[in-house]
Parts: sequence; C-alpha cells; structure tokens
Amino acid sequence: MIVLGIETSCDETAAAIVRDDRTILADVVLSQLDEHQPYGGVVPEIAARAHLDHIDRLVGEALERSGIGFDAIDAIAATGGPGLIGGVIVGVMTGKAIAAVTGKPFIAVNHLEGHALTARLTDGLEFPYLLLLVSGGHCQLLAVEGVGRYTRLGATIDDAAGEAFDKVAKMLALGYPGGPAVQKAASQGDAHRFPLPRPLKGKPHCDFSFSGLKNAVRLLIAAQGDSITMQDRCDIAAAFQLAVADSIADRTTRAIRLFADSHPGADTLVVSGGVAANAKLRETLSATAAANGFHLVAPPLGLCTDNGAMIAWAGLERFRLGLTDSLDFAPRPRWPLDPDAIKLRGAGVKA
Ligand code: KG4
Ligand code: ZN
Repeated sequence: MIVLGIETSCDETAAAIVRDDRTILADVVLSQLDEHQPYGGVVPEIAARAHLDHIDRLVGEALERSGIGFDAIDAIAATGGPGLIGGVIVGVMTGKAIAAVTGKPFIAVNHLEGHALTARLTDGLEFPYLLLLVSGGHCQLLAVEGVGRYTRLGATIDDAAGEAFDKVAKMLALGYPGGPAVQKAASQGDAHRFPLPRPLKGKPHCDFSFSGLKNAVRLLIAAQGDSITMQDRCDIAAAFQLAVADSIADRTTRAIRLFADSHPGADTLVVSGGVAANAKLRETLSATAAANGFHLVAPPLGLCTDNGAMIAWAGLERFRLGLTDSLDFAPRPRWPLDPDAIKLRGAGVKA
C-alpha cells in the first residue's frame, strides 16, 4: 500500500510518498524561511501564496524521486487542518484534484495526528504511548491510544513552547527562526546567572504556560539597559532554555504518572514537533522518562518538524482502517485531536 501525503498548514510546503512497510519512498520539504524572515514570523497570506506556487512541483518531485507514477499510489492524503487556513485550502484542493483525476481515495489528515503517529512510522511503536507535542503552534500532552483515539492530558493555557522561543529570540535580537537561534546562543551562555520562573511547576494538572516566563525575560532584558552585551544575551537565552526544559519536564512527569496509572504496562514517551529539535529539551526529557521507568522516543529531526511523510503515514494508517473522506471535506482552521477535552481558559488558548 502506497500513499502520497501533502502538508501545507504552516510555513513548510511538503510532499512525500510512504509505503505500508514503513519505507519513505520520497520526502520533499520546501521551507519558506526566506519569505517570512523580513517580518520575523509567518505571514499567513505570504505562506498561502508560496504553497500555491510550489506544491505542484513538489508533488512531481516526490513522484520522480520515488520512481513511481500516480497509478502506483493507492490513496492521496492532505493536511485538512488545523493550521493557517489559506495554506490548508491549497493542500486540500491539490489533494482533492489529484484524487478526482486519478479516481483514488482522498484522506483529510489532522496535522496533529500526523505528528502523533510519526513514531509508528520511524520506530514501529505499538499503541498506547504518551506523546508530548511541542511546536510553534501547539504544546500538549496526549495519550495516544489508537488511530483517531487520543486523550488530552494537558495543553498550554497561553503560548506554545516554540512560540515562546520565537518571541524570546526576537526580544534578544537573535534572529528568525527563534528556536535554533536561542539554542545556539544558549550554548555560549551560563544558564544559572539569571533566575527565571518555572511556570506551573508542581501543579497537579498537566497544563503548560509560557507567557509569564516570556514576560520575565522581557523585564530581564530591560533591566540590562542599552549596555546589554552579547554575553548577557547568551546567558539570558541559556536561562530561558533551561526554564522551558524544566517546566516541560515537570508537566511531563505529571502526565507520565497519570498515563501509567490508566495504561498499565505502557512505558514509552514520544516527543514530536519542532521544539523537539532542542538538544537541552531532549536531554532533560530523556532523564525525566528514565526517572519514571519510561523510555524516550524522538523521531529524527526532519520528521519532528513539519513534513509530508507524517501526513502520508497518518493517511496510510487511516486508509488501512477504511477511513477515507469525501471530496466535499471542508478545510478546518481548528481541529482538536481530543474534542472531549475540557476547554482551557487563558490569554491565547491554542488547544
Ligand atoms: O513543528 P514545527 O516545524 O512547526 C509548527 O507546526 O509549529 O515547529 C516550529 C517551531 C518554531 O517555533 C521553532 O522556533 C521551534 O519549532 N524550534 C526550536 C528548535 N528548532 C525549531 N525550538 C527550540 N530549539 C530548537 N532547536
Ligand atoms: Zn507541526
């Protein structure tokens, strides 16, 4: 069984082809970094136009690299949401058009399900496992119990972790995208020179918050005044990165305990999403998992950030279960994986 996957929900235009034996036949990703760099963040209208300019070529390239034609493909999957709606529309329309012309089934994939199932593609994991999804748009802990079966244990009540990295990078004038820039600066810094808060540490639930930490960083930068040096910036970056890692580790420890209670025998923590690229976070999570009798599975970096292979794979998992969508599927800007989860209240709730 072979599935084509299309991803266009944020600032990566991607197409990939995967086979049910977990082989990635092709995985083409075009990042729009250069287009958004002058604005210091993703501009939705620019993103949508860039997806439109490149998606056809990328699908062609994926077919060429895998050495197959549309006739060898069993189904076409595209991210149906959640995400920037202009981009999602481009991907969904492309997927539907290919499905209509070739007569193959169409599958609308929840972008978050793509991240959630990636570890089954890369590591062949069995259900259930605990997932920490940390990206620019999402920060949540989910019990992954099966395809389409997720229980949200916690989520951010304000910013996503990646968003906080991006904003702190901007405040420190470290450049865009923020995560890698903060990590680089932090590697030259002393994480213990400046004390920063650990949001929600010790709370009995598993939710996250990063806006207070971000504000503490803002005040810290202001306190340095105009004479702030590059070393000050590196020290602040290191302190911030450590605070995020500590805070995520504390929330994840809570979730591991809850998850282990309700899923006896399960012992795997998966981390996915762009922030999973952070070396300090990976190191901290690996220790957190071990301290609780769990082990950490972190997909390769290229499959943690947005890509087409995760959409093709999630599409394949759905297709295997007979879950396809009709061509009148409407793109969704919001699409929670666990619609029954309690609605969170907060400044900018994303979940
Ligand atoms: O999953 P992703 O590619 O796109 C979303 O769906 O959001 O994640 C992008 C996010 C950005 O906020 C970026 O700054 C962050 O992941 N990121 C990092 C690192 N690399 C990327 N954050 C911290 N450390 C990194 N090394
Ligand atoms: Zn993503």
